Amino acid sequence: MTVPLVDPHGRTVRDLRISVTDRCNFRCTYCMPEEGMQWMAREEILTFEEIERVARVCVERFGFTSLRLTGGEPTVRAHLPVLVEKLAALGADLALTTNGSTLALVAADLRRAGLDRINISCDSLRRDRFLAITKRDRLEAVLEGIDAALATGFSPVKVNVVLQRGVNDDELIDFARFGREKGVGIRFIEWMPLDAQQAWQRAIVVPSEEVLEVLDREFGIEALDQRGSQPAERYRYRDGRGEVGVIASVTRSFCSTCDRIRLTSDGQLRACLFATGEADLRSVLRAGGDDDALAAAIEAEVGTKWAGHDIGAVTFTRPARSMSQIGG
Ligand code: 5AD
Ligand code: SF4
Repeated sequence: MTVPLVDPHGRTVRDLRISVTDRCNFRCTYCMPEEGMQWMAREEILTFEEIERVARVCVERFGFTSLRLTGGEPTVRAHLPVLVEKLAALGADLALTTNGSTLALVAADLRRAGLDRINISCDSLRRDRFLAITKRDRLEAVLEGIDAALATGFSPVKVNVVLQRGVNDDELIDFARFGREKGVGIRFIEWMPLDAQQAWQRAIVVPSEEVLEVLDREFGIEALDQRGSQPAERYRYRDGRGEVGVIASVTRSFCSTCDRIRLTSDGQLRACLFATGEADLRSVLRAGGDDDALAAAIEAEVGTKWAGHDIGAVTFTRPARSMSQIGG
């Protein structure tokens, strides 16, 4: 029997984000330092069987409808399609967020294994700038990855762009054109204070409001109905050439409809991106805990879910982990 998992603020939680590795083949400046990241040891990382057990409890006991694989960079994890196959069998919507650099190699395997949707992160369409942001000269590979995702039949394919003032905000229209020409939905994301280096400043965030104004002036856009608890605000181009979205994580936080929890690659359950506490599901799993014990631990952590984050307030505290360790 499935019983919905409702948090103390009345929100039903039904989306589990699973970080499958903290490692990444990129070093995006706003995410991690170029050198000196301490990776988790192999034995700290959950096995596919352990991940599947947590996901199964979420889907079967609590009726979760959505699973999303993140990292670090999820495709860095060996044999990812094997995990995808296990999770696809649970019947929830299964998505992947990737930097796209290896997709040309694995897109077909992921599709065959039962992956439903792919989001690709790409913050510049200029080779030199892409290198400056990611510290890797891999723009070409990412563009091939986007093509591979489309060619393999993933639909829709979405491209996430984190905008930073003075870094890539002058590429807004280029990205929009790229999306319209390729048939991919671009989503412009506000940069959140989740970087390992703690360089975040409010002045560098490009407010979604401004993005929408520029897009409307250039192309003409109109709002689409908001779909459930999705953080992206969706728009269509008035000329019918596709969709575009913004994720206003900082200026218009969507905490009030948040339906997600996160499992880190070392098996810690987080009720919020910005949570300061975690539930140690790995210990429950490795102590031989049964599904009841896992469900109880998940339920207890969801009981700590905050009403919302308070980026900008004096009381705001950054979580100890960076985005690459939590998963997007
Ligand atoms: N703020 C917003 N988005 C971020 N990402 C990584 N760090 C941050 C941050 N601090 C994005 C990546 C990718 C997704 C996993 O999260 O660019 O699109
Ligand atoms: Fe890797 Fe994503 Fe972090 Fe970039 S933002 S370094 S691709 S985990």
